[in-house]
Amino acid sequence: MYKEKIDMSRLPKHIAFIMDGNGRWAQARGQQRSFGHTAGADTLHAVVRCAKNLGIPYVTFYAFSTENWNRPKEEVNALLKLMVKHLEEELFMKDNVRFRLIGDIERLPQDMLDSCNHLMECTKNNTAITMVVAFSYSTHWEMEQAVKQIAQEVKDGKLDVEDITDKTIDEHMATNFMPDPELLIRTGGEQRLSNFLLWQTAYSELYFTDTYWPDFDDECLYKAIVDYQGRQRRFGKTGEQVAEEK
Ligand code: IPE
Ligand code: IPE
Ligand code: MG
Repeated sequence: MYKEKIDMSRLPKHIAFIMDGNGRWAQARGQQRSFGHTAGADTLHAVVRCAKNLGIPYVTFYAFSTENWNRPKEEVNALLKLMVKHLEEELFMKDNVRFRLIGDIERLPQDMLDSCNHLMECTKNNTAITMVVAFSYSTHWEMEQAVKQIAQEVKDGKLDVEDITDKTIDEHMATNFMPDPELLIRTGGEQRLSNFLLWQTAYSELYFTDTYWPDFDDECLYKAIVDYQGRQRRFGKTGEQVAEEK
């Protein structure tokens, strides 16, 4: 229904997702929260496939925040296990998907780190779509490490303070290999960013839906894109200026 309404010449190059509502989805079915996370992982693959078929080059998924380390130990362990299970090489090679991980990898268990590194290496030349998973990620962590790196470069005499621009900050962010998302989608009904891509979403269009992540299907994605394409992105200018530029 919504697919025909998409203007294929104005697709976003990067869509970021806050995959929320797995726990509530499971609880509504009388199941454990982990049941929802398992279902959510299937949704993730389906969304990558759908975005790839549309021709969207980058998708980023918020899978686990720095703050999520504070969840009960069993849930954290279940999420780590689930992540490792879904890092299967065949899945990515079959669909020609390039995998990238962003986040504080120092907190990850070694087996997961090994799997991630292996997957990043063997998918690095895949070209259909880049799928980025933000795991153990938060913008506060990301800014902290960016500031430390920049300060170190100044200290080492490699960089002048006067030469620091917003581009310098961009280059030190974990997302420096891709464009900022034009569209950010959060499922699960909450209207907040929860420490996700705060720097990179400065001018993103935000789309919130009550749909729980495991129920987010192709049609939901098409609908969000149609909504996005119906907005006027002004970047500080007036509506008239933007209309004239067209
Ligand atoms: C999102 O679903 C997945 C993670 C944060 C890992 P939640 O687990 O937050 O689900 P709700 O918000 O409790 O329903
Ligand atoms: C945000 O989900 C993080 C992820 C989707 C991974 P949460 O459900 O943990 O977010 P808050 O803490 O309720 O905002
Ligand atoms: Mg949640």
